[in-house]
Amino acid sequence: MFYSQRVFCGQLTLEDVGRRVLLAGWVDASRDHGGLIFIHLRDRSGIVQIVFSPEVALSDVCRGAAALRSEYCITVSGEVRKRLEGTENPHIETGNLEVLVTELTVLSESDAPPFAVSEKAMVAGAQSAGAESVAEDLRLQYRYLDIRRPSMRDNLVARHRIFQCVREFLDSRGFLEIETPVLTMSTPEGARDYLVPSRIHPKNFYALPQSPQLFKQLLMIGGMERYFQLARCFRDEDLRPNRQPEFTQLDIEASFIDEEFLYDLIEELTVRMFAVGGIALARPFARMTYAQAMDSTGSDRPDLRFGLRFVDVTDLFSSTNYSIFRQILQRGGCIKGINIKGQSERLSKNVLQNEYAREIVPSFGAKGMTWMRAEGGKLESNIVQFFSTDELEALRRRFDVEDGDVLIMIADPSYRVVTSVLGQLRLHLANRLGIIPAGSFSPVWITEFPLFEDDGEGGVTSSHHPFTAPERTDFDPKNVEELLKLRSRAYDLVMNGEELGGGSIRISDRSLQKKIFAALGLSEEETREKFGFFLRAFDFGPPPHGGLALGMDRTVSMILQTPSIREVIAFPKNRRAVCPLTGAPSAVKNEQLAELGLLNLGGRDVLPGTAEGENRIDHLSWVSRIGIAAEERPQLEKVLSQADELASLAADKAGAEEPMATVAPAANRMRPGTVEGQSALSRDQLLKSAPAVKGNYFKVASILE
Ligand code: AMO
Repeated sequence: MFYSQRVFCGQLTLEDVGRRVLLAGWVDASRDHGGLIFIHLRDRSGIVQIVFSPEVALSDVCRGAAALRSEYCITVSGEVRKRLEGTENPHIETGNLEVLVTELTVLSESDAPPFAVSEKAMVAGAQSAGAESVAEDLRLQYRYLDIRRPSMRDNLVARHRIFQCVREFLDSRGFLEIETPVLTMSTPEGARDYLVPSRIHPKNFYALPQSPQLFKQLLMIGGMERYFQLARCFRDEDLRPNRQPEFTQLDIEASFIDEEFLYDLIEELTVRMFAVGGIALARPFARMTYAQAMDSTGSDRPDLRFGLRFVDVTDLFSSTNYSIFRQILQRGGCIKGINIKGQSERLSKNVLQNEYAREIVPSFGAKGMTWMRAEGGKLESNIVQFFSTDELEALRRRFDVEDGDVLIMIADPSYRVVTSVLGQLRLHLANRLGIIPAGSFSPVWITEFPLFEDDGEGGVTSSHHPFTAPERTDFDPKNVEELLKLRSRAYDLVMNGEELGGGSIRISDRSLQKKIFAALGLSEEETREKFGFFLRAFDFGPPPHGGLALGMDRTVSMILQTPSIREVIAFPKNRRAVCPLTGAPSAVKNEQLAELGLLNLGGRDVLPGTAEGENRIDHLSWVSRIGIAAEERPQLEKVLSQADELASLAADKAGAEEPMATVAPAANRMRPGTVEGQSALSRDQLLKSAPAVKGNYFKVASILE
């Protein structure tokens, strides 16, 4: 039989019974029943059981079957037959069939795989290994084996289907798929750029795009009207579970449109993408302004699958005798709380006071938490005696309290602290109490974001990017207070507490764009240098336009409900931005650096200490322009290896979730043999090793770099 006659394992049905077929794939698992050999044969479409029986196959074939091992690549031919009643396997789709083999070819053998690829047990009721217990780095190192696993294969197939759904839908709405450059210049998305050196232009760099933002806007100015791209983006930013250094965006831009056009388009598209995963989303999606989201959930990406919304009670305590609240309110603070309905049995006094008030809340950043439990028609807590009857009654009404409810309140002079801590508590409690309904999806548009954020240095930075249109244009670019109050025409699509996408209506007026750059504190010259080519395009009749980008890894991961976005990317980086398969990022040869103009290797011009094999102390001596005597070298070697150790510790830490902080106390460090506090050295003593002296100064060679 020929490959052209090949059929797919997973596609066999009862209609094929009696047919001779050629199958090709990998040995998933095998069982030997005293000469009768059963094998699960796996290809991309699925698994079918193949049977080698000495009554049907020649002895050579049966011997060959006995020698098969997991992951051998084989072809077999034989006849499809229905399995005997009671021997069906519900774990595989073809579980009511098997193929009685007469011919076997081993195409290639396999080493024992480093982890079990097989996920489907061969008999009803049995368990298969699966990859849950395998270290992720090992899976990524052997990713080609990992993606043979049916669950990973299913993820990649689903990703493809979702991408196809995107293409079909956007094509039907008149959008063109257009590629934009990957070797380009910096785009202002707020992360660091990955730079690519140019060999032809030594010491010059391309930047990999953080997004196609500038190009998609230029496509609008170029009259393309409706653009999309499944674009690879690159951001050198701190890693989080839902971030990758390179990721895929569905990038969209359209001209002569407004927000409503985009909401409608993206809602329809999202409904279709989720339908590919069998999930029905209801339209229209909810909408919330940024201020509403912060006020009621403490987050600009609220998880709306459950309640626990904040209730503001600041006004109830305007003349309170409870001194903590009084002092906080005197300092302009606020008080917000949550009613955890009917959970007083699970949230005992002990849990509320000792776990939440003492441990959890301080770790979230607040000084304390006030709690009350509703029992026997009363509110009770460790501090209830400090509140007046009126205040307690007002609380009951405001929170709509019934017996069994638990109130928690956070008071702080800072609105940001109150909302942030209560927001974290909201999620903590929802997880602890198991009140997040499984399999539910709550999309919401967040709108009216602040246009700017405080840059901490008396100025502002863009909350999104500097091309986002403001809600009004009559602002003073020098008035920071006014700038911080401005809202933008940006929107984010949030689902289940995750930001799936974001975009905005853009500035299409050149004078307004200049005003925004001025507000950002960029001089005309800086603006020209960074965005000159872009601004120039606005001199040629730009249309009104806007768009959005959806993070496709996040979207697919949400549809498939995988624990991380790495599960839906064929070859992702690990949590430390490393590819365990290829070892990237890796060091390069000095010759390669030299070729790029990044290292001078020529003769005497070799940079000491940078050429391979060069001594580090020489390098140190050269960069610091300080002569190092032979007897000083062992001590310096020791210091350098301590620094190495610290650096590798820092590198290890970089992969962890928690921030790195130094624990070394600040102290004067004296050279060995020096007595602290001894009188200062004389000028002559200090300058005695100087090759040349001028006045009180030590002359060094001029540095040309
Ligand atoms: P933004 O920066 O919000 O907008 O990015 C859009 C979406 O891309 C996804 N995303 C990521 N996914 C995985 N790993 C990352 N490191 C990562 N960073 C971002 C998120 C995010 O919502 N040019 C604008 C869009 C526009 O204005 O049209 C932009 O890139 O899901």
